This record gives sequence, C-alpha cells and structure tokens, in this order.
Amino acid sequence: MKKTVTLTFSDGSPPIELPIEQGTYGTPVIDIRPLGAKGYFTHDPGFTATSSCTSAITYIDGEQGLLYYRGYPIEELAYKADHMEVCYLLLHGELPTAAQKQAFVDSISHHSMLHDQMENVFRGFRRSAHPMAVMIGVTGAMSAFYHEGMDIFDARHREIVAHRLIAKIPTVAAWAYKFNEGQPFIYPRNRLSYAENFMHMMFSTPCEDYEPNPVLARALDRIFILHADHEQNASTSTVRLAGSSGANPYACIAAGMASLWGPLHGGANEAVLKMLDEMGDVSRIPEFIKRAKDKSDSFRLMGFGHRVYKNMDPRARIIRQTCYEVLDALDLRDDPQFRMAMELERIALEDEYFISRKLYPNVDFYSGIIFRAMGIPSSMFTVMFALARTAGWVAQWNEMLADPAHKIGRPRQLYTGPARREFVPIGERTA
Ligand code: SDX
Repeated sequence: MKKTVTLTFSDGSPPIELPIEQGTYGTPVIDIRPLGAKGYFTHDPGFTATSSCTSAITYIDGEQGLLYYRGYPIEELAYKADHMEVCYLLLHGELPTAAQKQAFVDSISHHSMLHDQMENVFRGFRRSAHPMAVMIGVTGAMSAFYHEGMDIFDARHREIVAHRLIAKIPTVAAWAYKFNEGQPFIYPRNRLSYAENFMHMMFSTPCEDYEPNPVLARALDRIFILHADHEQNASTSTVRLAGSSGANPYACIAAGMASLWGPLHGGANEAVLKMLDEMGDVSRIPEFIKRAKDKSDSFRLMGFGHRVYKNMDPRARIIRQTCYEVLDALDLRDDPQFRMAMELERIALEDEYFISRKLYPNVDFYSGIIFRAMGIPSSMFTVMFALARTAGWVAQWNEMLADPAHKIGRPRQLYTGPARREFVPIGERTA
C-alpha cells in the first residue's frame, strides 16, 4: 500500500492527498507535483527540504556522516580505488573490470590535449587573472571547439563529452596556473597516471626533467576521489538546471564552475587558508571563534559547517589523515598551519556554539593545507576542486539526459511586489 499524506485546510477547502516516495536510503519525499493543478506551490528558498530529482549516483547521510558513490562507502574508494576507477563508477554505475578500466584510461589519456587554437583563449586574459576566471572562460570556450554535430540525446555522444571533459579539465587547470606564472604550457604525457600527469603539467618546465613524487601523486588522486561528487550541491544543481534546457554541455560545466567558486561552496578551501594566514598563531584562535559566533560580524569559520552533514564530513576525516602522509613525505610534520588547523578544530568542537549547531570540519578545512604543501598556490585551490568535481558534474548531467521523463527546470516563486498599477508619464512623476 503506497504511503500518502493528506493536506487539510483550515478554510474547509477539500483535502489533498499526496504520495510519499522512499528511496533506497534517506529521507522519504512527498511528491508535490499534483499541488500545482490544485492551485498551490511549495515555498523553500535555498532548497533546504526539497528533492530536485531522482538520482542513483551519490548518497549522503548527514546525521551519520556517510557518503556512498553508487553504493560504495567513500572510505573504501579513497583507500582501495583510484580516480579513474571512480570516474568510471560515477559514469557507468559499476566499478570497471581491468579491461574496461584500461580502455577508459586509454580514452581519457588520448583526449587530454586541448585544440591548439585554445591557447589564444588563455592569452586573452591578464596574467594576473584569477585561475578560476580563466578556467571558467576556457571551459565555456570549449563549447565553440568540441560540440559540432553532437547530439546530447545520444548516449554515445554524451559519453564522448564526458571523456573529453574529464580528460581536458586537468590540462585547462594546469595551463591556468602556468599562464598565471608566466611559464610555458606543458603538454600532457599519456604514459603518466591522471594525477601524475596533472603534476607534470603543473610543475615541470622545458628546462629540466621532472618526476612526480609518488606519495604526493597518490594523495592527489585520493583528493580527486573525495571531491568527485556530492549529490545535489549548489554547483551540481547549477549544471543540472543549465543542462535541463538542452544547453551545450561545456557551457553547463562552466556554469557549475562559476557556482563552485563561491566562498560558501568550493571557494571555501581558499578562504580557509586566507583565514589561517590572517589568524597567524594559535593564540589568536579564541578571537576568531568569538567573531564566528558574533551575529553582528559577517565572519564565519571557513571550512566549518555543512547544509547536509550534521556530523564530521567523512571526507574531512580522510583528508586530515592524508595531510599527515603528505606532510611526513615532505618532512613538514610540524607544519604550523596544520598544527593551527588541528588546534582550531579541537577548540571549536568543544565549543557549545558549534556543538549545538552541529558545525564540524568539512571537506574544505584541510585540503588547502595539502595543496599548499605540494606547492599549489591558494588561488588554485578551487580550481583543484572543480577539476575533481567535473567527474560528478558530467555523471549527473548524463543521468539527467538519459531519463526520457526529464523536464526543463523551471521553479516558481512567492510574488511580493506591487499590485497592478497604471503607467505614469515621466512629466507627471514626482520623486
Ligand atoms: C562545500 O552542499 C555540498 O555538498 C557542498 C560541498 C560539496 O562537496 O559540494 O560539501 C562542498 O561547499 C562545503 C562547505 C564549504 N563552505 C564553508 O566552509 C563556508 C563556511 N560554512 C558556512 O557558510 C555554512 O556552514 C554553509 C554555507 C556550508 C552551510 O550553511 P547553511 O546550511 O545554510 O547553514 P546556516 O547558514 O543556516 O547555519 C546554521 C547556523 C547559523 O547560526 P544561527 O542563525 O542558527 O544562530 O550555523 C551558523 C549560522 O550562522 N553557521 C556558522 C557557520 N556555518 C553555519 N557559524 C560560524 N561559522 C560557520 N562556518
């Protein structure tokens, strides 16, 4: 027997019965679609209690701090798989066999170069442009290079789009960094792994040999896995909404990057390092905790809190562990910022304000410390997030378009503007 809920109205209007749907896991949803025809909308600014779609890709349990990609716990994938396997899993729903993985890796490797003309897109920016601005501009420009004759309603065409984006975004990211630095663009090398190739394009120069540090490459690959997808977050919802109109997928991914750039979303990893730099010493932690709690101060503790997690973000726990590994590998185990971050976490997690609001460190709290230790500047931190999240964005975009029932997204509103009024000619208007 399908579970339902009945809306009754205090003015005696006829009740409305609505179906309740239960997924594999998670909060059941009330299917409110019949409400429109009955003369009502629901109202949920910020979508705090709204399910926007059906998806089989990622599951998050905010209370328990769980994160599954296609049913596999993030801890399993982070320590036992690599990013290429996870990209395949997100796109196809199953972990690849050895042969399927090899074919996928070969396809990604052979799509990693950019059209030669795209160099000019980078050169249209000032050298000092923020690398996220460059990444968004170049990714959007890809819509002018790679979408001729593509049919987004053809599954194979969508797979080619996905492979191109997963393959090319690391090149775009590394070249945005090289452009900032005034160094020559470094071309991808197909024999290297995904993370090694990114490090090669970021840190090598034509003047000397470069071999990626295997410990750092493994840590980077794990960080890509942790950032790959996260259900219907702001940037993924942006990609879905843009893509729901049938828009060019490269332009849709650029829109997702724009949303991710915000300091409340993926821009938080850069904001955490700016906060730690400003804090400067553990002795100033109480001052910043006080500011974070002061409602008259717009300051928030960057890297803390989450719309969904009301427990420790499972990714933060893994990234903290990875921090230890990277700092040990670089003989930076006493990195003052890492020590300060851990002390800040300890103090905040003992503070009633954070405990009562269930504010825990999120994925952005520690990632910047690792990136900085690897020699990646803070201006590149959100670029790193966007690089990894491209796999999730294209998987969610693909899932949406594969659903024959999908519709263009078109939310409604609660109108609070002026009632109808007559036009006043300008000569008769008074201030
Ligand atoms: C990401 O959605 C995703 O899945 C995102 C992400 C992904 O993988 O895609 O996980 C990546 O974006 C992680 C979040 C990164 N952002 C930050 O670290 C920025 C700092 N965090 C906050 O701005 C905030 O916690 C949000 C934006 C993350 C969540 O905000 P919500 O859910 O809208 O929560 P809220 O603003 O309603 O806060 C509830 C209360 C408020 O206090 P009261 O009004 O109840 O007194 O908690 C307070 C807030 O003031 N609060 C904070 C705080 N976060 C929330 N107070 C101080 N510092 C903070 N960081």
